[in-house]
Amino acid sequence: MKYRHLGTAGIQVSELSFGSWLTFHGQSGLEATISMMEAAYEAGVNFFDNAEAYAGGESEELMGAALKKLGWRRGSFLVSTKLFWGLHEGPNEQNTLNRKYLIEGIDGSLRRLDLDYVDLLFCHRADPTTPIEETVWAMHNIIEKGKALYWGTSEWEAADILTAIEIAERHHLHKPIVEQPVYNLFERHRFDSSYESLYQDRGYGSTTWSPLASGLLTGKYNDGVPSDSRGALESFDWLQEQLTDAERLEKVAALKPLADQMGASLAQFSLAWCLQNPFVSTVMTGASRVEQVQENMQAIEFVDSFTPDVMDEIDRIFENSP
Ligand SMILES: NC(=O)c1ccc[n+]([C@@H]2O[C@H](COP(=O)([O-])OP(=O)(O)OC[C@H]3O[C@@H](n4cnc5c(N)ncnc54)[C@H](OP(=O)(O)O)[C@@H]3O)[C@@H](O)[C@H]2O)c1
Repeated sequence: MKYRHLGTAGIQVSELSFGSWLTFHGQSGLEATISMMEAAYEAGVNFFDNAEAYAGGESEELMGAALKKLGWRRGSFLVSTKLFWGLHEGPNEQNTLNRKYLIEGIDGSLRRLDLDYVDLLFCHRADPTTPIEETVWAMHNIIEKGKALYWGTSEWEAADILTAIEIAERHHLHKPIVEQPVYNLFERHRFDSSYESLYQDRGYGSTTWSPLASGLLTGKYNDGVPSDSRGALESFDWLQEQLTDAERLEKVAALKPLADQMGASLAQFSLAWCLQNPFVSTVMTGASRVEQVQENMQAIEFVDSFTPDVMDEIDRIFENSP
């Protein structure tokens, strides 16, 4: 495993990391969660991503229980969580980044994770109804209290991130250091175009998500929806539509010979493609079983195989990508 700095921050993250969305609690119990985290850690993963909203808080509880059983030294791994959607109904507790929600929210997450602090705390989405200044102060205060070490944004507009950085700089507060955006072969345009100056000029880091487009980029949906896959989960119709879209499946099939030439599986090829972008600090992987973790961790070996010819061919395949 190799490690990259989160932008220009001092902290380093493994090039591949591991997240819990939809899988922890939804598809895996404690035993499977432990096995997958262990396989990732043994491969050198030092960063584990979570969020308050995942499985209504159960995902944090499961990761906390797994960490307790695994007994790793706290200095050897990073944990993140994210706040925004909230767990309770009410005007101040949902879809918000107000000060009260954030200050109380982090306490709930730490309780569920059974940790004294998280390494990274993300604002899971932007909240146009709360002044950015209020959010920046609240995140700063959380860090000052030792409940988080760094903070970041997820799916914020670049202009809002810049505003947050400037507010923090003006008041000498802890500024956000990292964005958590979607990034995969199908959804690359925002990452590539809007954030570039943040990465280049402001030293912003990135922890990118859904590198396999929820499994589509493994090729497993090209012969229909496997019954044991994310695409078969109930109440995810929007996801099923994407996973069975004929045009997308055609592009995945067209990638297969390129992956074959490298000697990589489609999953490894698609993960390694994310990592050839130097503005990616870490690619957050997801898995529902330990074999997938083991396969995905080997993607590291193919990062240097993306020659200009391969990149041109990928561009040709995705020219008309949605
Ligand atoms: N900030 C945000 O808004 C946000 C949003 C989404 C995710 N995230 C984070 O990013 C992490 C990764 O996202 P993601 O889970 O969507 O990643 P992904 O890599 O796009 O999808 C992971 C899923 O693909 C399937 N898969 C993975 N490896 C495979 C392999 N080698 N062979 C076959 N199938 C394989 C598994 O699902 P099945 O086995 O069930 O098919 C796995 O759960 C999340 O856990 C979360 O921490 C953040």
